[in-house]
Amino acid sequence: MFKIELNQELLKYCVEHGVRENIILEQLRDATYKFSNRQMLITPDQGALMAMLARIMNATRFLEIGMFTGYSALWMALSMPQHSHITTLDINDKYLPLAQEYWEKAGVSENINPIIGKASETLQKMISNNTEYFDIAFIDANKSQYIEYYEMCLQLVRPGGIIIIDNVLMYGQILETEPRKNYVKILQKLNKLLKDDQRVDICLLPIGDGMTLAQKRSFN
Ligand SMILES: C[S@@+](CC[C@H](N)C(=O)[O-])C[C@H]1O[C@@H](n2cnc3c(N)ncnc32)[C@H](O)[C@@H]1O
Repeated sequence: MFKIELNQELLKYCVEHGVRENIILEQLRDATYKFSNRQMLITPDQGALMAMLARIMNATRFLEIGMFTGYSALWMALSMPQHSHITTLDINDKYLPLAQEYWEKAGVSENINPIIGKASETLQKMISNNTEYFDIAFIDANKSQYIEYYEMCLQLVRPGGIIIIDNVLMYGQILETEPRKNYVKILQKLNKLLKDDQRVDICLLPIGDGMTLAQKRSFN
């Protein structure tokens, strides 16, 4: 059933040979790697996959939950057509100036709308206003709220659109039989929910820290 055992060396090979990272993305990644919380960044192969999905789908509207230094938002902005709309949410504005510096350098800042505040509240407002819809949503913020985010994204993504969920393997902790950390329990619950959720088609990829693609079905 399984063909290959992935190790660090092979994963390094995948990134080195399988990803074309724009120079400004590389510079932003280097700038972010100076911070102690750098592990929060998606990996370049995750960025390349998300960017390719956007191109295949002709996506023009992207919602991101978890902006940090704006690296994943920049991958998407560079892969989407001019006049696309990228909305990125974060509770913290500490890294916003850095993100904006690189979005401007790449000439895409006009397309990116950062919203600072609790993501669940921003998402709830979008649902209540009933004016927003997205082709792709990316969940990459507070792990304890992933189920909540997922349910809200299902309301905000169009039929046929994709919800991308990061950290579904939680650095291997997902295999724990009696997890002590609450967010691991939540992720186990979400993965179980997704497996049987007839509202979506799914594919869990062992890329980065594990990433699930959930495509919203047009009909149930
Ligand atoms: C993993 S990082 C995002 C990384 C980013 N997607 C990338 O790869 O370039 C998660 C971010 O979620 C934010 N966050 C955590 N809890 C949040 C909440 N309740 N609402 C909004 N953002 C939150 C954090 O401040 C952090 O910047």
